[in-house]
Amino acid sequence: MGLAAASITIAGCMSKIPVGILGATGAVGQRFIQLLADHPWFEVAEVAASDRSAGKTYAQACTWRLPGAPKRAVADLVVKGLDQPFASKLLFSGLDSSVAGEAETALAQKGHAVVSNSRNHRNDPDVPLLIPEINPEHLDSIACQKKHTGGGYIVTNPNCSVMGLAIAMAPLHRAYGVTEVAVATLQALSGAGYPGVASLDVADNIIPYIGGGEEEKIETEPLKILGDWKTSAFVNAPIRISASVHRVAVVDGHTMAVFLRFAKRPTAAEAARTMAAFKGEPQARDLPTAPKHPIHVLTAVDRPQPRLDRDLEGGMAVSVGRVRDDSLFDLKFEALVHNTIRGAAGAAILNAELLQARGLLS
Ligand SMILES: NC(=O)c1ccc[n+]([C@@H]2O[C@H](COP(=O)([O-])OP(=O)(O)OC[C@H]3O[C@@H](n4cnc5c(N)ncnc54)[C@H](OP(=O)(O)O)[C@@H]3O)[C@@H](O)[C@H]2O)c1
Repeated sequence: MGLAAASITIAGCMSKIPVGILGATGAVGQRFIQLLADHPWFEVAEVAASDRSAGKTYAQACTWRLPGAPKRAVADLVVKGLDQPFASKLLFSGLDSSVAGEAETALAQKGHAVVSNSRNHRNDPDVPLLIPEINPEHLDSIACQKKHTGGGYIVTNPNCSVMGLAIAMAPLHRAYGVTEVAVATLQALSGAGYPGVASLDVADNIIPYIGGGEEEKIETEPLKILGDWKTSAFVNAPIRISASVHRVAVVDGHTMAVFLRFAKRPTAAEAARTMAAFKGEPQARDLPTAPKHPIHVLTAVDRPQPRLDRDLEGGMAVSVGRVRDDSLFDLKFEALVHNTIRGAAGAAILNAELLQARGLLS
C-alpha cells in the first residue's frame, strides 16, 4: 500500500498533508479535529474509533462536546474500524489505552508514523517521549524502530500532568541541576475522558486518587524526557520525584504545586527569569502550533488559575506563578497546563510538525 505523506504542489498551491485520527470520537480525538480544522499543513482525511462507531459518519458516531462544530468535510467522513487500511502516512492516536498498544504497533509495522497520546509505548526502549522544546534529539531513536518495522514508527507525548511539570522543570534542570521534586496535582475532569467521574462523586468534593498509574507516570516520565538518547538507548535523568494526585471539579486545566531541590540552588528571581526565557526548536523553526513562549511566568500572587490562564497561547503555553524560596526544599511554584491541548492533542500536533520540519514524514 502506498501511504499518502508528502504534500503535492497543484497549480502553484501547496496542498495539505492528509492525516488520520484514531480515537477521533473521544475527548482527545475531538480536540484533534478542532485544532486541525484550519491547520496550515495537515488535513483530516480519515477518522477511526471502536466498532460501536465504525460505519457511521463522524457526525452520527460522535457526540461533539466542544464549542462550535466539526467542518462538513470531517462530519461526513465515515468512521473506520482499526482493522481497516489507512491511506495517510501520519496517524494521530487518541485511542483508549486498552487498545492503543497493539493497534499502534501494528500500524507502525504497516509503515505509518503513529503520533500517540496513549501511555502504552511511552516507556518502549526505542520510542521517543517527545516534547519538542526539550528533547528533539530523542527523535534519533526512530532509526532504531525502523530497523524492526521496515519504515513506520511511533512517537509519543507524555501524560498531561507530566507535560506541565517537565516543561517547567526543563530550563531549571539545564541551568541548576534538579535533584529532587515533590508535586501535588489538582487535575481537571476532562483528563478522564467522557463521561469521566460521576458528577455526584466530584461536585463539592476532591478525589485524592486517579487510576491508571497516574502517580507512577508523573514520577517516571520526566526522567526519560529530561534524559539523553545515547546512540541506541535512553539514559534517564538522575532525579527523584514524588507525586500525589487529586481529581478536582475543574473542566480543563491541570494545576500542580511543585517543590524542587537543586545541585546548585537558584534564587527565586533567577529561577523565574530562567523559566520565562525558555525556548526551543519549535520556536526557532516557528512551527505553526508552537507557543511564542512555552512558559509564561505570572507575577500576580493568585495566579495561575485554570479558568483564567489555561488558554494562554491557544492552550499551548504552560503558566507558572508564585515562584518563591522554600524552607524545606530550595524552591516552590504553581504550574498550570491545558490537559487536552498542550497535554494531549496540541502536543501531538506539535510533535508531528517537528517530524515534518525534520523530513521524517516522507
Ligand atoms: N483526556 C486527557 O486529558 C488525556 C491527556 C493525555 C492523554 N490522554 C490519553 O489519550 C487517550 C484517549 O483519551 P480520551 O480522554 O480521549 O478517552 P475517551 O474520551 O474515552 O476516548 C477514547 C477513544 O478511543 C476509542 N476506543 C475505545 N475502545 C476502542 C476499541 N476497542 N477500538 C477502537 N477504538 C476504541 C473510542 O471510540 P468510541 O467512541 O467508538 O468508543 C474513543 O474514540 C487515552 O489513552 C488517554 O490516556 C488523555
